[in-house]
Amino acid sequence: MTNNPAVVASAYGEPDVLTLIDAERPTPGPGEVLIEVRAGGINPLDYKLYSGMMGNDPAALPMRLGLEVSGVVAEIGPEQPESDALAVGDAVLADRVKGGYAAYVVADRGDVFAKPETLSFEAASGLLVVGATAVDLLTTTDVTAGDTVLVHGASGGVGSLVVQLAVARGARVIGTAGAHRHDEVRQLGAEPIAYGEGLADRVRALAPDGIDVALDTVGTEEAVDTSAELVTDRGRIATIANFVQAPALGIQVLTGAGPSAEVRARSRQLLVDLASAGALLVKVDRTFPLSQAAQAHTYLKTGKAQGKLALIP
Ligand SMILES: NC(=O)c1ccc[n+]([C@@H]2O[C@H](COP(=O)([O-])OP(=O)(O)OC[C@H]3O[C@@H](n4cnc5c(N)ncnc54)[C@H](OP(=O)(O)O)[C@@H]3O)[C@@H](O)[C@H]2O)c1
Repeated sequence: MTNNPAVVASAYGEPDVLTLIDAERPTPGPGEVLIEVRAGGINPLDYKLYSGMMGNDPAALPMRLGLEVSGVVAEIGPEQPESDALAVGDAVLADRVKGGYAAYVVADRGDVFAKPETLSFEAASGLLVVGATAVDLLTTTDVTAGDTVLVHGASGGVGSLVVQLAVARGARVIGTAGAHRHDEVRQLGAEPIAYGEGLADRVRALAPDGIDVALDTVGTEEAVDTSAELVTDRGRIATIANFVQAPALGIQVLTGAGPSAEVRARSRQLLVDLASAGALLVKVDRTFPLSQAAQAHTYLKTGKAQGKLALIP
């Protein structure tokens, strides 16, 4: 069956390689769920995958995109256990999908969660990838009550979740952000601070007793250098975006592989529960129709988005 509008990268390159095709509507197998997508969450990794910066194997083209979605259960694969209450029509969110930029996508049952009523479909499509990454950062560096934590990129998708989860653990959080986003960061419970020249001195002035943990969601040399300068214990510094200078400085680089995979997988129900309780905010900047995936990615690349982006089929 066709009639499944979907976005593919037809080549490696800039966002103009993104095109809308009429794909097969998938059929869920045992242990799978077909989701009618209401919002396809956009992550920076989606762009990196077809940009060529992570490889350019021609065999991977055309490349379906989109790691996470929210939507409504359209069909449940055969052999659903009786104990499973999931039903057609349920509002859900899912990650680890292959090709979420589409009208329909299949997900493994274990990657499908009930959508918190507190989140719109747009916001729900942006919870799991950034949230699981944030939990991984906090778990790896063992953030706990009483810690003073420096978060680079506190206004970003991952950073804003790191801030909220660290504050919930009882930590004091100092977060870097552009001046126009300091109010947002403050509302999440952190103390905002400008990035750029003199960062380490500004942090010292705010936290004369020192920084226990530094978490980098930005990847600049400034972020890793400042972290290394301010935090003595390298085991309590982690980055998700600097793969160049961080390893030489002894800073942990988290990619989602190794022990992180299990931490991230296990974190998802907690994230859904916290969001359902109204304890986690996911800010959405803008949505685009599926047919405007290229425009959405061009906007993502400007770095001007103030919140998550999503594609609406
Ligand atoms: N390794 C992993 O497992 C993993 C997982 C998820 C994401 N990532 C990567 O992590 C990065 C962040 O992802 P995201 O979804 O949070 O992106 P995002 O929502 O676009 O956020 C990026 C943030 O970076 C901030 N920023 C921009 N320039 C900066 C600078 N010079 N100094 C300090 N902050 C700056 C921006 O703050 P202002 O708007 O306030 O300027 C913005 O809030 C991306 O590179 C992504 O690919 C890695």
